[in-house]
Amino acid sequence: MRKPEILFLKQEDVIAAGVKNMDKILELTEKTFNMLSKGEINNPSKTMTLIPNCEDWTSYFMSMPVHIGGDINVAGIKWAAESMENLKTPGMPYGIDVILLSDPTTVMPFAIMDGTLITAMRTSASAGVAAKYLAPKNSEVACLVGAGVIGRTMIMALMSSVPTLNEIRLVDLDLAKAQALADEFEGQIKIIPMDNLKSGASDADIIATMTTARSPIVKDSWIKNNALVIQMSLYEIEDETALRAKKIVVDNWAQLKSKGTHAVFSKLVDENKLSEEKIIELKDVTSEKLQLRNSDDELIIFGSHGVGSLDIMCANYIYQNAIKNDIGTKLNLWDKPIWL
Ligand SMILES: NC(=O)c1ccc[n+]([C@@H]2O[C@H](COP(=O)([O-])OP(=O)(O)OC[C@H]3O[C@@H](n4cnc5c(N)ncnc54)[C@H](O)[C@@H]3O)[C@@H](O)[C@H]2O)c1
Repeated sequence: MRKPEILFLKQEDVIAAGVKNMDKILELTEKTFNMLSKGEINNPSKTMTLIPNCEDWTSYFMSMPVHIGGDINVAGIKWAAESMENLKTPGMPYGIDVILLSDPTTVMPFAIMDGTLITAMRTSASAGVAAKYLAPKNSEVACLVGAGVIGRTMIMALMSSVPTLNEIRLVDLDLAKAQALADEFEGQIKIIPMDNLKSGASDADIIATMTTARSPIVKDSWIKNNALVIQMSLYEIEDETALRAKKIVVDNWAQLKSKGTHAVFSKLVDENKLSEEKIIELKDVTSEKLQLRNSDDELIIFGSHGVGSLDIMCANYIYQNAIKNDIGTKLNLWDKPIWL
């Protein structure tokens, strides 16, 4: 029987256990989508608690429970949160996440860890996997909008999954922030920091948005006909782009559909302007190695709201590395349980 011992991993421990290895996170991400396709993962839609309410939220919490079966066999939950208030507070991340892992048979929890970096890595890794299958052939130029936490990992993911890429236009309202992030990647790839989204997006093969904007910011007329548009938030692209796209690939349609009027795809489906038949899930693309581009003239969108199974898959990998390398702090849930 597993001891009532919980391994606590603070963010520094999660780093020491290998969270910044993007190639590994990309591999785990693709494995997760393939397992979702085989029905080996139970990943119910996340529940959201928006504060103070759905329309005018300034912060929210998401509860993301998962059981991964197959050769992994772990249960877990991510308690994920974001706060607009934190944007005004230097030193506070916009998103802060915690992950708990449990034994599916005994239901004993065995790890609690910072999930903030896991979130950042797996989020962009899902875009990286999408780009591997959906980006135009020989893509050279990507426009990344939002030089924040997800912007950083998006650079890592696209450099790895689109090897033909040779220029990244990094757009942010805060030019100094884009410049500082570009500097972190000096010598690895050409990154041009900018604050003009129109010139960044025009002619780009891949456009990826990961901002905190609450309304569309990328004009449809700036997007070339065969681009891959990656939307990591819910709001940044215009209705016209979703309607013009030949294919829309998403990480989890049930979850995005539940967003109703808050997200571009579900809003258009609710309004009967967009057929659900145009929506394909990424798990079907990876498992069947679907070639969705039939010509050089197809606009494809990848839309993501984040799936918890990616977090639990990565957290389980981090836990195993931590155990192997004696990383973290052990805590006991009890010394001797009472009231049995
Ligand atoms: N799909 C997923 O799985 C997933 C997971 C985590 C975060 N996200 C989303 O990714 C987005 C970014 O999160 P983050 O943690 O990187 O936030 P962040 O605050 O670290 O970075 C956001 C950046 O966007 C910039 N920005 C805001 N509005 C802009 C605009 N109109 N034009 C250009 N730049 C603009 C900000 O200046 C900031 O640098 C959020 O919307 C978050 O909800 C999605």
